Amino acid sequence: MKKIRKAVLPVAGFGTRVLPATKTIPKEMLPIIDRPALQYVIDEAKEAGIEHFVFVTGRNKGAIEDYFDRAYELEYSLREKGKTDIYDQLNNDTPTPGSMSFVRQQSAKGLGHAIWCAREIIGGDPFAILLPDVLIKSRKSCLAQMIEAYEKVGSNIIAVDSIPNEQVSKYGVISPQKRDGSIIHISGMVEKPNPASAPSNLKITGRYILQPEIMNILENQLAGVNDEIQLTDAMVTLMQNQEFYAYEYEGQDYDCGSKLGYFEAVLAYAKDHTEIGEQAQSMINRFSE
Ligand code: G1P
Repeated sequence: MKKIRKAVLPVAGFGTRVLPATKTIPKEMLPIIDRPALQYVIDEAKEAGIEHFVFVTGRNKGAIEDYFDRAYELEYSLREKGKTDIYDQLNNDTPTPGSMSFVRQQSAKGLGHAIWCAREIIGGDPFAILLPDVLIKSRKSCLAQMIEAYEKVGSNIIAVDSIPNEQVSKYGVISPQKRDGSIIHISGMVEKPNPASAPSNLKITGRYILQPEIMNILENQLAGVNDEIQLTDAMVTLMQNQEFYAYEYEGQDYDCGSKLGYFEAVLAYAKDHTEIGEQAQSMINRFSE
């Protein structure tokens, strides 16, 4: 079984739900306390052993590439002032040279199309996908949990979580078949179903481990829901030839592409923050009095 070394992170979206904050700042760079949201997703992937990151970017996303570069002037100034903690943190977050690739999705044709844009870099290897809008706060990184499951069952694995039935139309939803602990064999899935006809209330959360054959399917995938090329539709086709499993991870997800999800993520990470956690918690308590 090939190790999962590469991850695709689609970051081309406009961030329409949190405009105007995202007019000039990529939504992935919005801060959750003192780190951009994207850094949390990178940390999750690194903990899972990911060695190469493929960003599918778009126009106005240059800040992402710059964020992962060295900042010599800043580093020099931090050293001069003896601010070694921040200096060390910056160095720690700087990726190994050559461990990131950036490809452009020139037009917003949907998640499936964004993933297909990474095909040349993925080549013949199984790979992970992390949707950076979704932060997953957990003891062990969600992708690391999935890789553990992958080492048991192989094939394709997608993270799922149960949600209230009335929310299913916002997500991809799976048809569960047979369960073995947190691993569920899947017999189907559908993108943004009507709650009345949804196959379950298990939503696809935004973390995937897929076999490279998905790329050949995406090449010819027609537009689906919302007139977008949907990854879910391509996975349904791949399911005819390969096994698919869902994984019910331990952790809490936050949709940082939405106002409330972003706010909730800030609260959740603030109260566990090493420096400000305690004070943040008492502030939160004061607000709820
Ligand atoms: C995408 C996927 C969907 C998944 C969701 C998770 O939808 O297509 O299957 O449930 O991400 O956030 P989007 O949020 O791009 O509409």
